[in-house]
Amino acid sequence: MQIKPLTRALGAEIIGADVRRAEDIPAIKQAFSDYGVIVIRQQSITPDEHLAFAQQFGEINVNRFFKALDTHPSIATVLKEPEQKYAIGEEWHTDHSYDQIPAMGSILHAIEVPEVGGDTVFSSMAAAYDALSARFKSMLEGLYAVHSSRHAFGYSTQDSEGVQSGRFANMDQATQDARHPVVIRHPLSGRQCIYVNPDFTVSIEGLTKTESDGLLNMLYEHCKQPDFHCRISWRAGDITFWDNRACWHKAINDYDGFRRYMHRVTVEGCALGA
Ligand code: SIN
Repeated sequence: MQIKPLTRALGAEIIGADVRRAEDIPAIKQAFSDYGVIVIRQQSITPDEHLAFAQQFGEINVNRFFKALDTHPSIATVLKEPEQKYAIGEEWHTDHSYDQIPAMGSILHAIEVPEVGGDTVFSSMAAAYDALSARFKSMLEGLYAVHSSRHAFGYSTQDSEGVQSGRFANMDQATQDARHPVVIRHPLSGRQCIYVNPDFTVSIEGLTKTESDGLLNMLYEHCKQPDFHCRISWRAGDITFWDNRACWHKAINDYDGFRRYMHRVTVEGCALGA
């Protein structure tokens, strides 16, 4: 098995591994912990084998809003048909930050990908935190942010293409709000990571709306810098596994007219502290 770092900030590519092989799991676990994002190339696995791999990292977290695979209710489908415009996850985000116990990671298996395009970009929230000035870091200390699923998956989205096409459902279940520190201590690495994101964070507690919007937008501009990124170009069969506490991600929507179809399994996490 070869493990090659993708950038200085985060990510590694793993070649020659088989997620079904027990002896490969310890090295995969170590790479996940070291790099935050791993792409394991060329995995020919069934949905049951996808779930069995995920279960070695924790309990499965069943996503309430994504259309599930008909045969496997705990596998979410991530699909864009050739005629659809909107790609799931095209805004920078952190999966499940609206939950009080946010999911630890997501494991995406590429079933069908466009010949060109449809990459996923990740941004390291530890590298982004490290790059802040000491003054700014001390200003963030003790701040908490509120995250919500309501605006993203609730009734206000009923006319969206995601809901109309059946890719998202259960608007009535979009009732989760959660508060987390703006800077968390990563449960595996111990590194400090920025933990606010453009999709699900709604405000910073104790600040006026102007202050909160200003601070969040400044952090978002900072975290979007390519210095903190790695980018995965997919081939069918690849698995990408990312740690939601360590990074943001964004699906690049540049393949209109082509189909992209993935299976996603999400693994439960733990409460996050500063
Ligand atoms: C997601 O946000 O979970 C999907 C990312 C992708 O499709 O690349």
